[in-house]
Amino acid sequence: MIFYFSGTGNSLYVAKNIGKYNSERLISIATQMSSSEISFEYDLEDNETIGFVYPVYAWGPPKMIIDFIEKLKLNNYKNNYIYTVATCGENIGNTMKVLDNCLKKKNLYLKSGFSIAMPNNYIVIGNVDSKEVENKKLMVAEESLKNINKVIKNREEGIYIIEKGPLPGILTATANPLFNKMSRSAKKFYVNDKCTSCGLCESVCNSRNIIVKGKPKWGNDCNQCLACIHLCPVKAIQYGKGTENKGRYKNPNINVNEMRMF
Ligand SMILES: Cc1cc2nc3c(=O)[nH]c(=O)nc-3n(C[C@H](O)[C@H](O)[C@H](O)COP(=O)(O)O)c2cc1C
Repeated sequence: MIFYFSGTGNSLYVAKNIGKYNSERLISIATQMSSSEISFEYDLEDNETIGFVYPVYAWGPPKMIIDFIEKLKLNNYKNNYIYTVATCGENIGNTMKVLDNCLKKKNLYLKSGFSIAMPNNYIVIGNVDSKEVENKKLMVAEESLKNINKVIKNREEGIYIIEKGPLPGILTATANPLFNKMSRSAKKFYVNDKCTSCGLCESVCNSRNIIVKGKPKWGNDCNQCLACIHLCPVKAIQYGKGTENKGRYKNPNINVNEMRMF
């Protein structure tokens, strides 16, 4: 069983790759969290592996992953093999520790963890990678996945292949809470004249925070996954003043229809 969250397809690509190799089912965290359930209960099969795959946001897991784990109930859990893969543009700080602590509170125990550098999608600050860097990252990621898949298949424990980057403790302890408090607002999203009211942004919004009645309107519950801005087919969606001239990104192995919530 692989629980995944993805804004622009990198993490979905990783989840699908691991799911195919290890014959595991995929469950979208965003789809689950869009329901009004107060807990999410799953029956585990004997020896089933449990994966959490998600992008790193400001050196931590997206808030939705933490909220989901808090509501998670795994029946028949008998020390099943739990692993996590964080996709990132560069590095993940102490993301793994945050997730590990969150799982421990539920008496669930992480056995191994990985990070994979993939094309950057954080265009609020910075820009997408050049095509050359994007292609290189995707090639290296595919190689890394071959190794990760073997580790998972063999249920190897204590394997942590992660790029923490500089000052992991400080960045995760300071920048991540600040991001969750200050930067997850959707107030700066807007559309320019190119918007055709196609409704794609509404259907790919992981937070169900967009309603298209004529033009899209954003509510208050944004995770900043940036699916709306990157997947808009006519590049009509902008964030503040800085995104008009920036690039857009979608994982080339993922079809936009796979990203739709409905
Ligand atoms: C809000 C936000 C914050 C991000 N913060 C980081 C970060 O701290 N470190 C990093 O290396 N990449 C960061 N990224 C880049 C993404 O983690 C990376 O591109 C990821 O693979 C996107 O996955 P997805 O396509 O599944 O959404 C950030 C992206 C977003 C949207």
